[in-house]
Amino acid sequence: MLVAIDGPAGAGKSTVARAVARALGFTYLDTGAMYRCVALARLRQPQGDLAALRIEVGELVLLDGEDVTGAIREPDVTAHASHVAADPAVRAAMVERQRALFADGDWVAEGRDIGTVVAPAAELKIYLDASDEERARRRAEQTGRPVDEVLAEQRDRDARDRERAASPLHAAADAHVIDTTGLSLEEVVERIAARAKELQSA
Ligand code: DC
Repeated sequence: MLVAIDGPAGAGKSTVARAVARALGFTYLDTGAMYRCVALARLRQPQGDLAALRIEVGELVLLDGEDVTGAIREPDVTAHASHVAADPAVRAAMVERQRALFADGDWVAEGRDIGTVVAPAAELKIYLDASDEERARRRAEQTGRPVDEVLAEQRDRDARDRERAASPLHAAADAHVIDTTGLSLEEVVERIAARAKELQSA
């Protein structure tokens, strides 16, 4: 079974997806971390071979065996990730790797295109959203940076994620859209886990 959780940055995807995976005993995959690894690799070596990159995303994120869990969250990598994610060749390579993982076992995967492109047949599709201000406030709280700075960067990244030609961010027609503004994350997790359990026992 695959639970696909898509939505913009700061909607609560990571926290929710991790907790849903724990509640269900499924494996969690952060597909954004894969694009971040490509961005880091490209910043270091712009002409590097994409196919040769070893990307392992688990509790730790490893790039060619190096622990880059912290490095991929740096602002320059974050900004570059939304550029590399618009490159059709990068997307094709990441989608192929993600599909290979999902072929085996039960997964909760978060990203932008899981329910629309990577796994349109996912048993459960969730699209998490929240107001721009709420999303920026959450990110600012996590990173200790000023909200207005985070909000401005977030608007640029959102525009790139939503307006790119290759797999732009949007909700799948059959996704459950949950606006997390003002909701507790526990409530959201419970709702998704309950729906997944219903589907499992059906
Ligand atoms: O979720 P995140 O902020 O870690 O994602 C990093 C970048 O990668 C962001 O610009 C969106 C992009 N991304 C994507 O295009 N498709 C995915 N499935 C996951 C992330």
